[in-house]
Amino acid sequence: MPRLKFLGLLTVTTAFLLLLLSLNQRPISVYPKNSQLYSNLIKDDYVTRNYNYVSSINDVIKQHSIYIEQETADYPFPNSSDVKSFALATEGRPLRNIIITTWRSGSTFLGDVLNAVPGNFYHYEPLLNYGIVQIRGPPYGDLAVKNIKRLLNCDYTNLNDYLDYGQSHVYLFTHNTRLWDMCELYPMYCWDPTFLKEFCKLFPFQSMKIVRLRLRLAEQLLRDKFLNVRVLLLVRDPRGILQSRKHRRWCPGNPDCDQANILCADMISDYKAAVKLKKRYPSRFRVIRYEDLSVDPYKHVQELFDFFQLYFHSSVKAFLDSHTKLNSGGVSSTFRDSKSAPFHWRTDLNFSEVQYIEENCDQAMKLWGYVKAFNETILKEFNPVTLYTIN
Ligand SMILES: *[C@@H]1O[C@H](CO)[C@@H](O)[C@H](O)[C@H]1NC(C)=O
Ligand SMILES: *[C@@H]1O[C@H](CO)[C@@H](O)[C@H](O)[C@H]1NC(C)=O
Ligand SMILES: *[C@@H]1O[C@H](CO)[C@@H](O)[C@H](O)[C@H]1NC(C)=O
Repeated sequence: MPRLKFLGLLTVTTAFLLLLLSLNQRPISVYPKNSQLYSNLIKDDYVTRNYNYVSSINDVIKQHSIYIEQETADYPFPNSSDVKSFALATEGRPLRNIIITTWRSGSTFLGDVLNAVPGNFYHYEPLLNYGIVQIRGPPYGDLAVKNIKRLLNCDYTNLNDYLDYGQSHVYLFTHNTRLWDMCELYPMYCWDPTFLKEFCKLFPFQSMKIVRLRLRLAEQLLRDKFLNVRVLLLVRDPRGILQSRKHRRWCPGNPDCDQANILCADMISDYKAAVKLKKRYPSRFRVIRYEDLSVDPYKHVQELFDFFQLYFHSSVKAFLDSHTKLNSGGVSSTFRDSKSAPFHWRTDLNFSEVQYIEENCDQAMKLWGYVKAFNETILKEFNPVTLYTIN
């Protein structure tokens, strides 16, 4: 397992560095002062045994392209081709897969499932710097779509707002585990557009999840033949969404986040867009509900992977095994019993809160197949999910 080997190396390197630091009685703030030491250690061990100086961006890129070949050595690429036919760095054409959803709909989990595929580069929340807003059109729509396209082409020029925001909110990159490994080794390159461009281009699979862009605008991505993206709309019961959002510090007070009528107007608009996209792009657009995914994650992930043209690799199975069967970790953890997580709202909301949401979400719930709670007695055990059709 090349990735494990790599992480092992990282651990050993870190331990060694900390040892050096403690011997020198230096403070533990290792970045960026000792990044040179990091790079040299890695360079010594991992690539060339050449003791000169800090690895250049080119060195890092070269070494990582070898690493990706190893990481994907057992991956059955479509049409018996190889990583070179899919990486932009070798004039290949990446498989680009996007999850469109909204806050608290299970996308952290699904995004990480996609990222479990070897050779995946994960563009996590490209619109993070816009704040707690939904983008539905002007004034931000055009620029937002443009920036998404730039990222999908590994073009990091003119993304200063995004990169500046990320430096003070590093979770923009930490979810992109393969990039973040590099950021820890070479912090001086982490936010450098040139490095990012070359690094991103090495990866055959480019995934993205977006909670701030409504589906109507995502059509511009599907329309782009060169990008050839696949788009998945991830939908969740508004009662589950709003219950979960109540407990987030950043949500209350932001109307796009805490208002039931706004959420459900978006769900109606997403439904209308979904009907259209399903007709126009039957092989590149799909919908899934969080509740369906959670009740049978293995079956649905396999189906989604067929749609995404990804192989259900053993690393994906291992991720599902460890993330769908137990409750542990904090509130944002994706480690949980996936069968009960989507329905937790039934015990956390009282009946009048549920009714309030249902009054504001009548049409959205009908369209997406969510059933109202008849009365307070059945609230805690009724099945809130029924069938829906997109036509
Ligand atoms: C595999 O080849 C077929 C036929 O040439 C093509 O339609 C399909 O898009 C290819 N798949 C990928 C992932 O490139
Ligand atoms: C339901 O919960 C809300 C918010 O926590 C609270 O203000 C309200 O009083 C509760 N209603 C009942 C009937 O318990
Ligand atoms: C609650 O609704 C269920 C299903 O419609 C019904 O069977 C039950 O009698 C109702 N309970 C009360 C207390 O109204």
